Amino acid sequence: MARILQNEDYRMSIITEPSGQACGARITGCDLSDPLDDMLMQDIREAWHAHKVLAFADQQMDDDALERFTVAMGGFGEDPFFDPIAGRKNIAAIQREADETSPLFAENWHSDWSFLPQPPSGTCLLAIEIPPVGGDTLFSNQAAAFAALPDARKIDLRKLKGVHSASRGYAPDGLYGDKDEGRSMAIRPSKAALARHSHPLIKRHPETGEEVLFFSISYTIGIEGMNDKDALQFLIELHEWCERDEFIYRHKWERDMLILWDNRSVNHRATGGYEGHRRELHRTTIAA
Ligand code: SIN
Repeated sequence: MARILQNEDYRMSIITEPSGQACGARITGCDLSDPLDDMLMQDIREAWHAHKVLAFADQQMDDDALERFTVAMGGFGEDPFFDPIAGRKNIAAIQREADETSPLFAENWHSDWSFLPQPPSGTCLLAIEIPPVGGDTLFSNQAAAFAALPDARKIDLRKLKGVHSASRGYAPDGLYGDKDEGRSMAIRPSKAALARHSHPLIKRHPETGEEVLFFSISYTIGIEGMNDKDALQFLIELHEWCERDEFIYRHKWERDMLILWDNRSVNHRATGGYEGHRRELHRTTIAA
């Protein structure tokens, strides 16, 4: 059912319902466990660029289908600091047991692996076990957040570079480091997390041309040429700006759902509120 006739002249392979929030759209009318033909992938790519986060409802995808979709979107990206699930090289489980008490994974805003020299273009997350309440994923539209700034501020921000690092999370003394106990996820902290890489604070999206605020409170640990105290204050203010409701999409999970987001134009974070329930999603990273 990968083709839906919209009218006599135009065939569209997906049905797109915008979320009505800062970004995000629900996609139906396609079956991602079927072969993924070029027209379907082109329509998905267009919708992805327009809405930044796509939620494919009513999918019957297994890990093979998740891998096929990731390859069709550009291939697998690197996944540092995670072990993959058994039998797969490129799928990680984002999971939390019903009785787990360790700090929630990924509760702070970030763009996946932004500390890499070539951060991934996107991420796929497939529902495996969804709690009956809570566990929403939040997204901030970093292009809209930049566009809404005064022109003078934009000019200043374009001159800056953010210093990115995984140290706060994945270094031995980080949040998921040696003192992190009782976590069911296969996180592998290491000294490699101390590495730093700078990126322009304002990046131009390579496919849409939009200017985007490329930083996060998780992975941006400084601003080149600014002392640490001033940089922290600067980053907190910018972070608070991006957290405003007008830039946010709250994604509510359903069974049989795959989501796809664009790390080049949104930040995201996990939320809790499902104590006593298990949650598991399978994640793949799409190469730059
Ligand atoms: C992630 O950042 O990959 C996880 C998001 C979530 O658990 O909602």
